[in-house]
Amino acid sequence: MALHRLTSITIGVPNVGPTAAYYEEFGLTPTGNGRFASTDGGEQLSLVSAPRRRLMELGIGVDDPDDLDRVAASLSTLRVAPERTPSSLVAVDSGTDVRVVLTVARRLGQPNTTAASTNGPGRTDRATRRADAVLRQEPVRPRKLGHVVLGSTNMEASERFFIDGIGFKVSDRVAGLAAFLRCSTDHHNLLVQQAPVPLLHHTSWQVEDVDEVGRAATALLAKDPSRHVWGLGRHHIGSNFFWYLKDPAGNFTEYYADLDCIVDDQLWTPGVWEGMSSLYKWGPPVPPSFLAPDDLAELMAGMHGAR
Ligand SMILES: [Fe+2]
Repeated sequence: MALHRLTSITIGVPNVGPTAAYYEEFGLTPTGNGRFASTDGGEQLSLVSAPRRRLMELGIGVDDPDDLDRVAASLSTLRVAPERTPSSLVAVDSGTDVRVVLTVARRLGQPNTTAASTNGPGRTDRATRRADAVLRQEPVRPRKLGHVVLGSTNMEASERFFIDGIGFKVSDRVAGLAAFLRCSTDHHNLLVQQAPVPLLHHTSWQVEDVDEVGRAATALLAKDPSRHVWGLGRHHIGSNFFWYLKDPAGNFTEYYADLDCIVDDQLWTPGVWEGMSSLYKWGPPVPPSFLAPDDLAELMAGMHGAR
């Protein structure tokens, strides 16, 4: 029938030990051999050793083998020759240098949780009791991998690969810079943006609500304030609350809540946005290192070395 979700990612880092410790503190559950699980998504992150930080593999779930056949046919019109097994398809995007692995996978059935009740002007939905948010004690655990953001040295080729080849849908664009793409009902599961080097900008992990975004980030910062990148804020494109922190290898990690969901393609009109106002509605000023990561020159130099 279709692509339906991100399954898992493999990130290469030069310092697996400290990076693994970070993702455990981030709230993912270690399952052994550098692998980590989210609460609803299962095993979704694998860390492996690499000379420079990069996204090595992006996993996408499809419903059945017919989907793999369709993607193989679409890629062949782009002159990309995928590797095909009965239950998987593998192809590499030249612009992001990422190996994309499609597998037949079960759909993600997330338990339907009730939103915490709130009070407002003239509205007392939470009468005579404290907010759930101040009573919660347990550590925040990300529910699923939501999206990844990649830098591409060839936007045109990457867009052709992911949209025309793999079958992602366009949710929104930032003129001349980036495309927000989905392979599920989430507003974006992949954002590809122009960059001087193939780059993993960030991975993003879903939590329950804005309180969990704040509480999870605060806990990580209590241990090491230098992890802070940008937040708390609310994005304009996708509408989600965000807080970005940095892992020891330099990859940004985002906690997010309340992302737009597109359940009816006919009713969504992709927009073309421009400027900083498209990036966020409110929050602290965007740090320059968010737009151009501090290790960009190092990554560019590393491109000339071994992978
Ligand atoms: Fe994000």
